[in-house]
Formats: sequence, C-alpha cells, structure tokens
Amino acid sequence: MKVLLVNGSPHKNGCTYTALSEVAKVLNEEDTKTDIYWISNKPIGGCIGCFACAKKKRCVFDDIVNDFTAKAVEYDGFIFGSPVYYSGMNGSLMSFMDRVFFSASVQEPHPFRFKPAAAVVSARRAGTTSTLDQMNKYFLHQQMPVVSSRYWNMVHGNTPDEVMRDEEGLQILRVLGRNMAWLLKLMEAGEKAGVPLPKQEEQRIATNFIR
Ligand SMILES: Cc1cc2nc3c(=O)[nH]c(=O)nc-3n(C[C@H](O)[C@H](O)[C@H](O)COP(=O)(O)O)c2cc1C
Repeated sequence: MKVLLVNGSPHKNGCTYTALSEVAKVLNEEDTKTDIYWISNKPIGGCIGCFACAKKKRCVFDDIVNDFTAKAVEYDGFIFGSPVYYSGMNGSLMSFMDRVFFSASVQEPHPFRFKPAAAVVSARRAGTTSTLDQMNKYFLHQQMPVVSSRYWNMVHGNTPDEVMRDEEGLQILRVLGRNMAWLLKLMEAGEKAGVPLPKQEEQRIATNFIR
C-alpha cells in the first residue's frame, strides 16, 4: 500500500514537512510506502469555474494540478498538510486542492474515491481547528474515509525545531499514521475477501435552493 503526503507549504523542509515526516515514519514502520509531494513555492492559480474539466477530464490549466492528479491514481491513501495562514489553509494549497478535487471528480478511475485521507496542520499559535475543518471538506465531498487520531492533527511551531519539541503534537501524528496503516490493511483484506465497494447511484441529484 502507498500513501502520498502532500506538503502544502511554500517551505520545502519547514514545519509542515516536519509534521508529515513524522506520519511517514510510522507508516513506513507499518510496511506502508510513502512519498512526499511538495506543491512548490511557485504561484498556483485558483479555479476559474469554467467547467471545462467536465469535458476535458482534466483542468484547463495544464500545470502542477494535472501532474498531481495523474500521479494520485497510483496511491491508496493521502495526507494533506498545510501551514495555518490567517486561521485557514495556505492560499496556494487551497487553489491547488480546489482545482485537483473539482477536476478529479469527473475522472475514471477516480483518483480519490474510497481512499482514506487526513489533513495535518502546522501553526505558530492559533487557527488550527478551523484549518482542519476546511481541509476535511474535500475528503468528505469525495467519499474518502477520514482517518482520525486521538486528538486533532496539529503541531505548533514556527520552525522545524519547535515542531520537534511539540511532543503531544508528534504523538498525535504517530497515532494518525498507525490508524491509517491499519485502515489500509483492513481495506486490502476486505478486497481480497471479495467485499465490494459501495454501489454508486448512476445519476447524481443536484437540486439548487432556487425553485
Ligand atoms: C501569511 C501567514 C499567515 C500566518 N497565519 C497564522 C495564523 O493565523 N495562526 C498561526 O498560528 N500561525 C500563522 N502563521 C505561521 C505559520 O502557520 C507557522 O509558522 C507554520 O508552522 C509554518 O509552516 P511551514 O514551515 O511549513 O511553512 C502564518 C504565517 C504566514 C506566512
């Protein structure tokens, strides 16, 4: 089984990376392969709502978003990490996830559906829970089982060294990694035993509030 950990910080080896590395360490101990994907520190444009992806089956802007979505198909689980910016996720990561998840929702095979996911956040001080809430929405929208820990998946620090001193935060991340490895093993065993994926209703009902 393979898990992709997405570093949504402009800092390649900063606090978010340090947090993701703690999860990856435990996943590796549990025989789960991991890769870390850095969204880079280059600007990432937001979704322009053109709906071209419905026809093209990929984002109209052919950049890191399409590269990532094509790569995601190979993975069994995902951890998205973000630094907290003004009590929310980093803007580049938000643009990235908006476009990744919107364009992926029309793709087959679906890169994310039924694959376990979790979000991890890093902050100097505050805004962690609102950022986690924001990030979990992407997974809940795509039928991805959201993996839990014994608290909320956050570390505190302004530098990697400070993160390494947040012992409670690091433990929360290790528990998260073990829980994800366990869920992946259960899913693999279920597949081998012939447990089918849930049946999908062909026609998606989309009712707007205006009548
Ligand atoms: C634009 C900006 C906004 C920030 N907003 C917050 C915030 O609302 N709350 C907080 O605790 N830290 C805030 N921080 C600090 C970062 O969240 C924190 O240093 C984080 O651990 C950095 O992670 P990184 O090294 O992976 O980039 C902010 C930093 C920046 C650059």
